[in-house]
This record gives sequence, C-alpha cells and structure tokens, in this order.
Amino acid sequence: MQLELSGKTAIVTGASRGIGLATVRALRAEGVQVVGAARKPTPELEETGAIAVPVDLGTRAGAQFLIDEAVRAFGGADLLVNNLGGGDLLTLAGFADLDDDAWADAFEINLFATVRVTRAALPWLVRDGGAVVNVSSIGAWRPEGPPLAYNVAKAALKAFGRGLATELGPSGVRVVTVSPGPTRTSMWEGDSGLGAQLAAAVGAPQEAIVAGAPEQVGMVTGRLAEPAEVADLISYLLSPRAASITGSDHLIDGGAIRG
Ligand SMILES: NC(=O)c1ccc[n+]([C@@H]2O[C@H](COP(=O)([O-])OP(=O)(O)OC[C@H]3O[C@@H](n4cnc5c(N)ncnc54)[C@H](OP(=O)(O)O)[C@@H]3O)[C@@H](O)[C@H]2O)c1
Repeated sequence: MQLELSGKTAIVTGASRGIGLATVRALRAEGVQVVGAARKPTPELEETGAIAVPVDLGTRAGAQFLIDEAVRAFGGADLLVNNLGGGDLLTLAGFADLDDDAWADAFEINLFATVRVTRAALPWLVRDGGAVVNVSSIGAWRPEGPPLAYNVAKAALKAFGRGLATELGPSGVRVVTVSPGPTRTSMWEGDSGLGAQLAAAVGAPQEAIVAGAPEQVGMVTGRLAEPAEVADLISYLLSPRAASITGSDHLIDGGAIRG
C-alpha cells in the first residue's frame, strides 16, 4: 500500500528512542521530512536524517520552542505525533504514596505537553489539512493498578483526542489516538523503567519480568509488541489513506483488552 506521505513534514515528540524513534524511521522511509524532539537527541535519531531538536517538553516554553524550530526548518508541519509519555517519576507506588509532584509530572508529560505542542502547531496543521496522532496506553482502558497517575493522565489524553477531533474536523484536521500495550522499549528493558521497578518489587530478574509481561497483561499473541509495529500503525493513521479515521482510539496490544 502506498501511504502517500512523500513530501509531507512531521513533528515527532519523544523521538530519541523507542516508539518515537521507530516512528521517525518509518516516516523517513516514506519520504517525510521530520523534526524529532527529545531532551537528549541520540545518534540513532541523528542517523535518520531528521532535524533533532533538544528540548524539555515538561516546561511551558518547550512546546513553542519546538514548533519555532519546525517552522524554521520546514516552514511548519502537516503531521504531528505526540508520542512523548511516561515521565521521570513513573512509579508503581500505590495511591497513598503518590504525592503532588508525581501527579503533576504524570500530567505534564502525558497530557499538558501534548496540549501545548498541539496548540503551538495548530496554525500549520489547519493550513495544511494536517493529522495528529496522540500516543496513549492500554492503561487508559484498564486504569486499575499501578502506575495510577500515568493511567489517569493517559485516559485524559484519550478524551482530549476525541474532543479535539470533533472541534477540528471541519477545519480538515484529523486527531487520532493510538493505545499500545507492553512494547519492547526502555520502559521495559531500561534501568529505571517499569520493567526494572517490577523486577525490584518482586525480587525477580528483569528479563523474567519482561518475558512474563505478555501473559501477565493477557496478550494473546504471547509477546511484546515491537516499536516498529506501533510506528507502522501511526504512519498509516497519519496518511491520507486514513482520511475517514478521526476521533478514534486504536489499540495495539496483542489482544489484551477485550470487549
Ligand atoms: N513501551 C510501552 O510498553 C508502552 C506501552 C503503552 C504506551 N506507551 C507510550 O508510548 C510512548 C512512547 O513510549 P516508549 O516506551 O517508546 O518511551 P521511551 O523509550 O521511554 O522514550 C521516551 C522518549 O521521550 C523523551 N522524553 C522523555 N521526557 C521528555 C521531556 N521532558 N521532554 C522531551 N522529551 C522527553 C525521551 O528522550 P529524553 O529522555 O532524551 O528526553 C525519549 O525519546 C509514551 O507515550 C508511552 O507512554 C508505551
């Protein structure tokens, strides 16, 4: 299938590794010019040929800085992937141990950064009849259990996408949510992500936690999703081939969420 994305311009947040990096690679392969944002852009991001913008999107000024860089590089952007998520304070702590900082961090990174980047990009999205993909999580569908603040922020992100799609539809801008289940990134395999925290909590090797995650979560495929699989779904949803898809939330979770 030809995605008809060649010649378009995209902004991808959280682009230095994981799902964001895979999305940059997928879009570059389709002939898209990409601006990729992270606090510390990696050599892997630079190698894609994307414009790498070092920016902290947990700050109020970060979003406008990113869009200004995209305007400077490409005169704006047709496509926006709000992939940034997680957060440095992502924790398995129960409700009683989640202080204001943990809640604020969860909402800054998983909701407010997306709100601000989308608002700053809006003039160019409207000008070009653009498309936005927001990356949520199965945690928005199944918020019980930790990480609670993250799950609640992702549920708010899903609601944001639905509401914005309705408002922007007449302007020719589509807004879609993608909700991955466990996906093989630093969130599971890194030194301080959920995988590492779960391993420490139960005293098991991290590799065993990662290997057992699909069964634990109920993924009938029996394996973690790969970042490239999520990136392919995002690329399709951004493309003109998905012109009638807006406002919806697309699970990519190995069948974990049923009904
Ligand atoms: N992996 C999963 O199992 C899974 C499951 C469901 C949903 N998701 C969602 O999918 C998205 C991507 O997840 P991932 O696992 O690929 O994440 P990841 O590997 O942890 O990558 C996170 C990216 O965000 C950047 N980032 C973090 N804080 C930032 C900040 N304040 N400002 C700018 N950039 C920042 C990181 O770069 P720097 O650290 O250099 O800033 C990195 O590029 C997230 O929204 C996550 O919630 C993931």
